[in-house]
Amino acid sequence: MPLARQPPMIVGNWKMHGVTADLAEMGVIARELLERPTSTEVVICPPATLLATASRCLDGTGIATGGQDCDAKDQGAHTGGVSAAMLVDAGARYVLLGHSERRRLDRETNVDVAAKAAAAFRAKLRPILCVGESAAQRQAGRTLAVLRRQVLRSCPPEAGAGRLTVAYEPVWAIGAGATPAPADIEAAHATIREALSRRYGDASASIRVLYGGSVDGANAPQLLQIAGVDGLLVGRASRRAVQFLPVVRAGETAPPPLDYLPTD
Ligand code: PGA
Repeated sequence: MPLARQPPMIVGNWKMHGVTADLAEMGVIARELLERPTSTEVVICPPATLLATASRCLDGTGIATGGQDCDAKDQGAHTGGVSAAMLVDAGARYVLLGHSERRRLDRETNVDVAAKAAAAFRAKLRPILCVGESAAQRQAGRTLAVLRRQVLRSCPPEAGAGRLTVAYEPVWAIGAGATPAPADIEAAHATIREALSRRYGDASASIRVLYGGSVDGANAPQLLQIAGVDGLLVGRASRRAVQFLPVVRAGETAPPPLDYLPTD
């Protein structure tokens, strides 16, 4: 049975940047998209301190918000912890999990990420689960094996596949102004999709696989043409409306992924 085409998803990750004054940028993005609506699905993940205010500001604009991490526990004695339910309470629909900065700087393992994703599902939050190889793994020719392993071990078995998104972010491309060759991105996405299909069977067809790592308005159109790229995860270029809006608009001209084309 042919699947309905899903629009590309464009996700902005503000990381540890932004204070109340920066919400003005979100206001600009929202106004522009209200004036000229977009067919893409737009999500902005501000720091936790701005999440509730950002969610209120964006309410009714069609732009969803997301957290940047959540705890694996639902509640408890963990000073500084933020649970998935707290993110939902602050208005979030999504949560980034397993970002390479957290895997590297906070020593998060695949098992930790799977536990966090399970917590997100319990709270009815939609995880955007990040995977990606390091420069050393790439040089050693291990990219596809690393991705396969990260997907199989970080995606919890209980995932309602319809609520999961995966983001391929080569660690060496993040913040570096470099992106992999299109053929390498295509191979990575095909490997991730294969692993998702092993994990979730037919239900995996509805999981979008995003590309992230030095995405900007200039390279977004080409990246979205690559087979298997269902959207983009944007860091630096997501914090200013003037940089983020061209990425969102690029999503409007992206071809439908072949998998989603009607067959009759
Ligand atoms: P970048 O970050 O777009 O600044 O490279 C992407 C990310 O880390 O999600």
